[in-house]
Amino acid sequence: MPRYAYVNGRYVPHAQAQVHIEDRGYQFADGVYEVMLIHDGRLVDEEPHLDRLGYSLKELRIPWPMARPALRLVLRELIVRNGVAYGTVYLQVTRGVASRDHKFPAQATPSLVATTKRQKPTPAALAAGVAVITRPDIRWRRCDIKSVSLLPNILGKQAAAEAGAFEAWLVDDDGRVTEGSSTNAWIVTRAGRLVTRNLSTAILSGITRLSLLELVQSQGVAFEERPFSVTEAKEATEAFLTSTTSLVMPVTRIDGQAIGDGKPGALTMKLRDGYLRQLAAPPS
Ligand code: PDD
Repeated sequence: MPRYAYVNGRYVPHAQAQVHIEDRGYQFADGVYEVMLIHDGRLVDEEPHLDRLGYSLKELRIPWPMARPALRLVLRELIVRNGVAYGTVYLQVTRGVASRDHKFPAQATPSLVATTKRQKPTPAALAAGVAVITRPDIRWRRCDIKSVSLLPNILGKQAAAEAGAFEAWLVDDDGRVTEGSSTNAWIVTRAGRLVTRNLSTAILSGITRLSLLELVQSQGVAFEERPFSVTEAKEATEAFLTSTTSLVMPVTRIDGQAIGDGKPGALTMKLRDGYLRQLAAPPS
């Protein structure tokens, strides 16, 4: 089956998908993106993702590339054309093509590209637990915008990979974890409370984070939204991370130090199971 990409109004073979060299996404990282999960051919949490896309666009004063219902149709068409039952859809909107100049161009049409990727439904490896390292958070101060400007994130992820870890937890100037390079960070304290950092411009409002918080509330689990330090994380009884592609993934080591007994925690696995059940049978 040929693989298609959507590029500015056309479904084109993936290998030939191109944008102009003066696209501002290419020159300035002047654009935003979303990654959505495709589960059983269905887009998971599509509306919250589109809401967050709208927020990122608004903050950067980039117009919607098309009306929201039309965008929904494009994503569906792409998924069907590519025959993806399980995987992700990536969509990116930039300010468009213009002669290079830092200022916003007087006239530019936003560029929209979308691609799909296959991924196994819920690989067992996701439940085995992963190691994370900690790194200084050297990102800008608007991490609430899902911008394609990801250099600090890729450097963090690369450092993690080179250390044999899955993720880098980024640490602010006060020694507190903001989030992972592409995931949100969670711990369970010795007092048994679930903690994840509160929303602010310091972190991305993860859609998985939001869904999980709803689940946590519905299950009556005690939780706090507040910053936590690296020390507190290392002393935690459990830790995990969340994202569209990682779902709910146990963290068993931080900077080489075992968390709890070094195995995925009980609350983590309970929340993971609950999240996976909800994926399989979403609330109507
Ligand atoms: N990453 N924090 C950052 C910095 C992220 O880039 C992401 C998502 C998350 C988790 O958000 P969500 O639950 O909405 O996926 C948190 C995507 C998946 C990526 O860049 O591939």
